[in-house]
Amino acid sequence: MQYDVIIIGAGAAGLMGAAVAGQRGRRVLLIDHSPKIAQKIRISGGGRCNFTNIHCTPSNFISDNSRFAVSALSRYTPKDFIALVDRHGIAWHEKTLGQLFCDGSSQQIIDMLAGMCVASGVTIRTECSITNITRMGDGFDVTSNIGAFHANSLVIACGGLSIPKMGATGFGYQVAEQFGLAMIRPAPALVPLTLNGELLEDALSLAGVAVADARVSYGKKYRFDEAVLFTHRGMSGPAILQISSYWRAGETIRIAFAPNIDMVAAIKTAKSSTPKQEPISFVAGYVPKRLAAKICENVRGQRLADLSNADINQISNHLTNWQILPSGTEGYAKAEVTRGGVDTRALSSQTMGAKDVPGLYFIGEVVDVTGHLGGFNFQWAWASGHAAGMAV
Ligand code: FDA
Repeated sequence: MQYDVIIIGAGAAGLMGAAVAGQRGRRVLLIDHSPKIAQKIRISGGGRCNFTNIHCTPSNFISDNSRFAVSALSRYTPKDFIALVDRHGIAWHEKTLGQLFCDGSSQQIIDMLAGMCVASGVTIRTECSITNITRMGDGFDVTSNIGAFHANSLVIACGGLSIPKMGATGFGYQVAEQFGLAMIRPAPALVPLTLNGELLEDALSLAGVAVADARVSYGKKYRFDEAVLFTHRGMSGPAILQISSYWRAGETIRIAFAPNIDMVAAIKTAKSSTPKQEPISFVAGYVPKRLAAKICENVRGQRLADLSNADINQISNHLTNWQILPSGTEGYAKAEVTRGGVDTRALSSQTMGAKDVPGLYFIGEVVDVTGHLGGFNFQWAWASGHAAGMAV
């Protein structure tokens, strides 16, 4: 069967690319191996889909080739997606930090994109497993369990490796390899960090405790001010997920549970103004009581007046500069995205087309462009899908 465009992967990027190409009058086949399309949109944002972020800039994306995403992101912006959502009557709200969510359900975004595809004549085939792809003439032959197809343009929109039980595979990477495109090594990102030894024992005793306004830093450049959460395996929460996208094994991260405070001075002031106060009650003014108790373990039963300078420094350090060495991450099973992927140096930033393989395109998460937490990954899926949809 002959099409102009075959798109493999009916997720966020594939649906956008297919709809845009269909609206341009291209005959499009959109294929997915799962029984249902867009499973990750469905579960995203706690079921309400954080579909974009109004503060989106190229600095919200991680890539080995940092300027690559600029062009597509500037040609399809959050305003464009908001206008689309508005045209389809989908109500939304800003939750925090510019993150936009559906008022209703993420299914509304799936229905909108699938409706756009159907309206522009896109053929969608689910439960379609590709067995072979070959270059044939000016185009590509694609063989599958449901038949063989040919098209001049082939778009790979298979996503990354995160959440295999939602249909994630490394298929996109295999196609890149087959056609000789370089890869940036994939790794789990936006993922909880694990701890071991004494740190894990501490985390276990604090599992469920969250600190809303923490600061997590890594190296000199990376810093996120958001919540952190102790878990049964280590640490999570938005600030930890953000830093996990930069963190490399064997390196420490720093956590300030009470950032922007000269804690040594604050404790010394309290020591003279309320000398009988217990340290734990002072520290509980900054962090939840269970964490305060852990931080003050060594001075239990004492009063502020009894604290030595070493005690004060230790409490201050724990509150404002706690350094931990994560043992690893919770892996692809828990990662929201995959960092790394197809090396963007092999792609055109205008069209997402492979420079050395005319007609072959890569869009969305399979590409080495990874967004911060907060709607940026969908914005990349929309922008890169739109760029390819306009070019195929
Ligand atoms: P996506 O993964 O969406 O789609 C890939 C498609 O390819 C899938 O349908 C898959 O079945 C198909 N496929 C894979 N292998 C195949 C094969 N061999 N043959 C055929 N088809 C194949 N981002 C954000 O901006 N806001 C948010 O709120 C969230 N929330 C969120 C929650 C959770 C739990 C996760 C796991 C992720 C998020 N994300 C997010 C990230 C976001 O979901 C992700 O970045 C985009 O879905 C990526 O879009 P793609 O289209 O590239 O891949």
